[in-house]
Amino acid sequence: MSEKASYDIPTPHGGYHSRGGESESLGLTHTPRRASALNTIVASVALLFILVSQVWSTYWRFKLPPLEHVPSNGSEGVARLPFMGFNTWNAYHCDINESIIVENARLMETLGLLGAGYNYMNIDDCYSEKKRSPEGDIVAHKTRFPSGMKALTNEIHQLGMKAGIYGDSGWFTCQLYPGSFQNELRDARLFQLEWGFDLLKFDNCAVPFDHIIREGIVGKYQRMADAISQVSKEPGKLPMVFSLCQWGREQPWLWGKRFSQSWRTTGDIEPTWRSIASIINQFRNSFITWASDFYGHNDMDILEVGNGALTYEEEKAHFTAWALMKSPLLIGADLASVSKEALEILKNEDVIAINQDPVVGTAISPFRWGINPDWVSNETHPAQYWSDESANGTVFMLLNTLDEPADMFFNLTESPWIRAGRKYSVRDLWSHSENGTAIRNFTAQGVPAHGVIALLLRDAGDEPEALEPPCVRPEWCMDQNGTLIESGVSNSHLDL
Ligand code: GAL
Repeated sequence: MSEKASYDIPTPHGGYHSRGGESESLGLTHTPRRASALNTIVASVALLFILVSQVWSTYWRFKLPPLEHVPSNGSEGVARLPFMGFNTWNAYHCDINESIIVENARLMETLGLLGAGYNYMNIDDCYSEKKRSPEGDIVAHKTRFPSGMKALTNEIHQLGMKAGIYGDSGWFTCQLYPGSFQNELRDARLFQLEWGFDLLKFDNCAVPFDHIIREGIVGKYQRMADAISQVSKEPGKLPMVFSLCQWGREQPWLWGKRFSQSWRTTGDIEPTWRSIASIINQFRNSFITWASDFYGHNDMDILEVGNGALTYEEEKAHFTAWALMKSPLLIGADLASVSKEALEILKNEDVIAINQDPVVGTAISPFRWGINPDWVSNETHPAQYWSDESANGTVFMLLNTLDEPADMFFNLTESPWIRAGRKYSVRDLWSHSENGTAIRNFTAQGVPAHGVIALLLRDAGDEPEALEPPCVRPEWCMDQNGTLIESGVSNSHLDL
């Protein structure tokens, strides 16, 4: 019986233990002399392997600490309110460079947009080279961003603004620039610590194969959330605002709030009324308004106000819906050529005040669909009658989704936030004027096609005595003596 070879293999802890006679089970047989030569080779290779892996792991321990699974939302105090600013995508797509960004940042200040609250300058896709550096870092595009990203964020910060950058949770961005999959911590450090960005929009393209990613959509985005959280532990850092761009495919309104501050709810916006109406409805934006509150907001996409394709009334309706539904407000127009009207829309303080309400974080919700039956999705005719509480009263939005002017009527108590038996002063958030007092109901006459009415109703005391009918809401209206009053007529009496 020939002697079986024995050889040493490394333990997981870097030591050795001897395993005799395993060659047979591995299908190998050796003579002792060949075995001893083999032993030497195996031992040297193992030693080399241990040495390299220890150097490697020390380097990474130092350079990139392991990810901790920590929710980043809320407690660190970023983006309590919907963020406001500028994003390059709608106006420029990939045609961006550092001058465009600096020029628009300066215009944000000189046009009074920064003063109105728009304080993020966000760079979207296409800012980098197509390949990472030999060390593995994303590299700013050499000819379009020759001064480098740090110089650019310095300039933005000097103007009193914050800076946002873009990345992707897959192998590549949607325009096939480097994505962050498996490089999350490296990229989060680059974006925030080396380049100086304050916000990261994170997209959903170039998804790795299932057998590689072994995560659902939540886990896919959690990777970067953890990296952001970890990087924010560096002294003096807040986490980057994490703005998910997942297009609403897998219900980010259910999970986005765990670790991000906003989540796109729809596919890409276009400068058409059809697109605006469909986003108000699409993926049930009309039905998921409950998901927005402090620190977490449904993101309805970059604004198209000022891009010259919507009518004035459509731009007002678009802006009102986005602001009152508490979407982030990102300007997507070339500010060098933006019209005076568009600028006025973007700077509407009454509407912005609702978006940025420091007391009430929730979004307006429909109380009646109008043309469309209640609670039924309709891309052309989303819900028309909306309301919510606000710090200063009850806010209403009426949308005329028709292609012609229309009168729009509602009873005040159709909104859950209105008290029966009270009258209300009415402020028009577009004319910025007080429009008298509403008692029981309100009619907006001749609302333009695709137009909007935005109102703030404030309690102005008891309604006049003895108004008929005794209840505006006819259902189960009853006298204390048990008489049931329907449509203002007492038509039955219950013997109590
Ligand atoms: C899309 C995203 C757009 C824009 C674009 C860039 O996925 O929805 O807002 O970021 O990618 O390639």
